[in-house]
Amino acid sequence: MALHKPKVLLTRKIPSAAFNRLQSACDVDLHDGSTAIDPDELKRRVADKEGLICLLTDRIDGSVVDAAPQLKVVANVAVGYDNIDVPEVTSRGVIVTNTPDVLTDATAELTWALLLALARRIGEGERLIRRGRWTGWALDFMLGTELRGKQLGIIGRGRIGRAVAAKAPAFGMTAVFAKHDMSLDELLVSSDVISLHTPGGPDTRHLINRRTLARMKRTAFLVNTARGSVVDEDALVWALNEHLIAGAALDVYEKEPSVHPGLLGLETVVLVPHLGSATRETRTAMADLAVRNVIAVLSGESPLTPV
Ligand code: GLV
Repeated sequence: MALHKPKVLLTRKIPSAAFNRLQSACDVDLHDGSTAIDPDELKRRVADKEGLICLLTDRIDGSVVDAAPQLKVVANVAVGYDNIDVPEVTSRGVIVTNTPDVLTDATAELTWALLLALARRIGEGERLIRRGRWTGWALDFMLGTELRGKQLGIIGRGRIGRAVAAKAPAFGMTAVFAKHDMSLDELLVSSDVISLHTPGGPDTRHLINRRTLARMKRTAFLVNTARGSVVDEDALVWALNEHLIAGAALDVYEKEPSVHPGLLGLETVVLVPHLGSATRETRTAMADLAVRNVIAVLSGESPLTPV
């Protein structure tokens, strides 16, 4: 790689340490706009590249690879890769990598932040104060739900699901995993909080739907830091309006950055804009891992974290 620097397309700015590492080994074409690269522009700019570093907002399918005959690696700066048609890309001889491990703790922390916000009505209280509507302390004012003694049902026993479970004892909660400790149905009917940690994609699409929501306790909370596609948002709005569950906290949405209008007016919902891995430490580590994957593959070595 010393004589010829391979060409790499980077679809968005990354932290400077990772960018400098990439530039020292590769000839970098950076899309540095403040919005996602347009799909046609992506195809045009990837045409002469050997490497592509992309985000979960970039859709990468067979046609992108067909537009780039020299492409060897697609490095997603995310652990989830439902934005990439992996069979189509890999069947064309291109390696796909993701960024596991480095974002596990950040995402588990956000999951707990959402759960606590939901149980203790943090967003609702904030909105009330900012509207100038707080009239004073009262014994029965804005009462939430205690976590101690409650069951946390986790769907998805990957790294993040296990990291979320590991923090449960600190709050006096018992964590159980669907399909490991009990069936999904048993978990739905018996859990006080249900937290989603599955991958996105066709296998988990609308796993949470009218039927599964109706199985949950009326006092239960739903937390989703996985992928928006796992929850049927129409069904969730229906379940919340019918008081079939007590509340939901969402980091991810079916049609990001659009949020179902039925969710926006509900006080029983906590909404944050896809922040699971959004800490300085983690985003730096994710970018660095994606860069190291690209450099490894383009140097003829094995990728560090192939999909
Ligand atoms: C974020 O959603 C990721 O998959 O890394």
